[in-house]
Amino acid sequence: MHVPVSGLAPGRHYWYAFTALGRTSRVGRTRTAPRGRVSRVTFAAANCQAFHDGYYAAHRGIARENVDFVVHLGDYIYEHGQVGGVPETHVRDHDGPEILTLADYRKRHALYKGDKSLREAHAAHPWFLTWDDHEVVNDYSGTGGGAPFMRRRAAAYQAWFEHMPHRDSFGGMALPDPEIHRVRRWGDLLELSVLDLRSYRSAQNLPDGTILGAEQKAWLKRTVDRAPDSWHVWANSIMLSQLRGRPGGSYMFTDQWDGFLAERKEVLGHVHKSGLEDLVVITGDWHSAFVDDIRTDFDQPDSPLVGTEFTAHSVTSGAYSPEWNTANGPLMGKANPHLKYFEGNRYGYDVYEVTPERFTTHIRVIGDRRDPNSPVTTLTKFHVDRGKAGSYEDEGTKGSLAQYRRD
Ligand SMILES: [Fe+2]
Repeated sequence: MHVPVSGLAPGRHYWYAFTALGRTSRVGRTRTAPRGRVSRVTFAAANCQAFHDGYYAAHRGIARENVDFVVHLGDYIYEHGQVGGVPETHVRDHDGPEILTLADYRKRHALYKGDKSLREAHAAHPWFLTWDDHEVVNDYSGTGGGAPFMRRRAAAYQAWFEHMPHRDSFGGMALPDPEIHRVRRWGDLLELSVLDLRSYRSAQNLPDGTILGAEQKAWLKRTVDRAPDSWHVWANSIMLSQLRGRPGGSYMFTDQWDGFLAERKEVLGHVHKSGLEDLVVITGDWHSAFVDDIRTDFDQPDSPLVGTEFTAHSVTSGAYSPEWNTANGPLMGKANPHLKYFEGNRYGYDVYEVTPERFTTHIRVIGDRRDPNSPVTTLTKFHVDRGKAGSYEDEGTKGSLAQYRRD
């Protein structure tokens, strides 16, 4: 059910319910974006919530957060069967093998929505959504894969649209290809650009490859050119910053922006040339937390600093082992001079607290993803000051668990 509501007043809460066939739904709450001067906004970001890997204590936490909105950064569902996960991490069973048809995708979305905490988080806040690969299939690229793939993608997108609080971006019909990239403003304080890094991308590692697609890239550049004097946040499903596995080594994954080097350089060069300041990129996919300062050329540590990327822990999806993290955290730190922080042993979400002077990221973690009521704590906090690119960890939490932090 999609009801495109209009005529609401800015900057206030609304409550809503649905009535059909003699039954009335629970009451949900949403919030409209304010206009004009805004002195504070808080929002949360979640990503990667493999159902079989655990309970959504993180969403229970998000439902209880005093935030204006939630951003989901992708991997809302996983398309694979249970065999696709790591068996020892399975906490909840789900039936069925890898999903392929519209009926399959609908059933998988319904399974995920069966989780009470996820429903609570939706009922408590408005959401902005992007997606990553697992909403369709692992590591897919755009339209590459021929007719059977395109039928599968259309089925996946349709089921996604049916189950998500999403309005088509440019006023047209959402299906068969929902346009999910968009820009939204929260008064004069924050401009949020939601990116779609799956639908229009080419194959990886091509000299003229694209992760945005030509149209979305032109749109993003225009958005940068027209940007107001405010914080600029990009909802970015998959890591933007360069990530080498070890000094002198290769990139960890070229499914992320590291597989699209020329385009990354072009986009970040455009950000710098346009004079855009106060850019914060929020990212999912990695199932671990990173903080990276963004340079126009990551191989030149003295190239201009244009922003900061916060990559959030996953809600439940399995990360690398503590042993891997302990061994590789310091190597990644050494190999990537822009990398400030890495923590991969925990699960949770991020909360961002934004004022005209400061952008603060609270890295929230749950105690145990096997416990649906696991309590939420703040592992550490980082901040960026307005007009000064670069991130800083709060002194009070520098002693917290991490497998790498730059001193
Ligand atoms: Fe994921």
